[in-house]
Amino acid sequence: MGDIQTGKVLVIGSMNVDMTIRVKELPKAGETILAGNLSFGLGGKGANQAMAAARLGGRVGMLGCVGDDDFGRKQIQALGNAGVDVSDIRTDTAASTGSAFICVAENGGNCIVVSQGANLSCDEAYIRSKREIIRAADLVLAQMEIPEKALYQAIREARAAQRRVILNPAPAPEDIPDEVYRGVDYLTPNETELMKLCGMEGELSGTAADKQAIQEGARRLLERGVRTVIVTLGEKGCGVFKKGHTDWFAAKQVQALDTTAAGDCFNGALAVALSEGRTEREAVEFAISASAIAVTRRGAQESLPLRGEVEPV
Ligand code: RIB
Repeated sequence: MGDIQTGKVLVIGSMNVDMTIRVKELPKAGETILAGNLSFGLGGKGANQAMAAARLGGRVGMLGCVGDDDFGRKQIQALGNAGVDVSDIRTDTAASTGSAFICVAENGGNCIVVSQGANLSCDEAYIRSKREIIRAADLVLAQMEIPEKALYQAIREARAAQRRVILNPAPAPEDIPDEVYRGVDYLTPNETELMKLCGMEGELSGTAADKQAIQEGARRLLERGVRTVIVTLGEKGCGVFKKGHTDWFAAKQVQALDTTAAGDCFNGALAVALSEGRTEREAVEFAISASAIAVTRRGAQESLPLRGEVEPV
C-alpha cells in the first residue's frame, strides 16, 4: 500500500449470520426442492462492505448492531482482525444477531431473505449518538438492512458535514424521500432495485431494450436529486449516469460460482478507491475487478479479495 493516502470510510449497516444452502435452481413460489448441506458464514451487507473495503486497503470504521451472542462476537472479531475500527459497534443484549437465509443456484445466482434481529437496534438514537464519528469520516457508505429513519438521519449528518455518501439501496424500499436523495453522491442499485425505486418494476425484458429502461430509471432518480447513479448489472458490467452523461462499463469475463456479496464487494471497492482520491472512472474499474474475483468464490465475507489480488504489485 506504501504511500497511498486514504480518507476514512465509515460503513453504516447490517451484520448477519448467513445460513446458505446450494441448490440446482432457485425454487419457484410454492415449490419444495432439495438442497446440499447447510453452511454458516459471516455476512450482512454492512459488514461485507466494511470487510471488502478493509481487505482492499481502506481505512475503515463500522457502525451497526449485533446481538449478545456467538455470531455477534465472531462478526466483531472478524471485522477487527481485518483492520476495521469496531469500537463504535453496539451490542444489544436484548436481541439476536441478524440472520440471512440464502439459496445459491448452480449458475451462481442467489435469493436472500433477511431477519433483521439486532440490526433493528441500529436506530435513530444510536445514530445521533455517533454524530461526531459520522462527521469525522471522509466518506459514508450505507445500505438498507437497518431502520430507514436511522439511515436517513446518518445521511443528513454526513451531508451537514459535507461528507461524500454512497447509498447502496439494497434491499430497495418502495421509495426514498427526495430530501435523502439530495444527500446522496452515489446511488448504487442493481437493475432490480433500480426498477423498484423508480416505479418501473417488471419493465426489464432481458433484451437490448433494457438499456433504455435502465437509462430511463436512472434519469428519474437523477431528477430527484442523486448526483450519480451507478447501476450494477452483474456479468453485463455497470452503467454510470449523471445529468446529461452516460457511461457503460463492461464486466470481466469470469465463471461465477456464487454471486453472494458481489455487490457488497463492488461498493466497498468503490468507496476505497474514491477515498484514495482516484477518479470516478478508475474507482468503477477497480470495483468491477474486485467483484469479478468475489463471484468466483463461495460465501459472503470469505469471497472478498485482498488488494494484492485485484492490483498485483
Ligand atoms: O449481500 C449479501 C448479504 O445480504 C448476505 O451476506 C446477507 O447477510 C444479506 O445481508
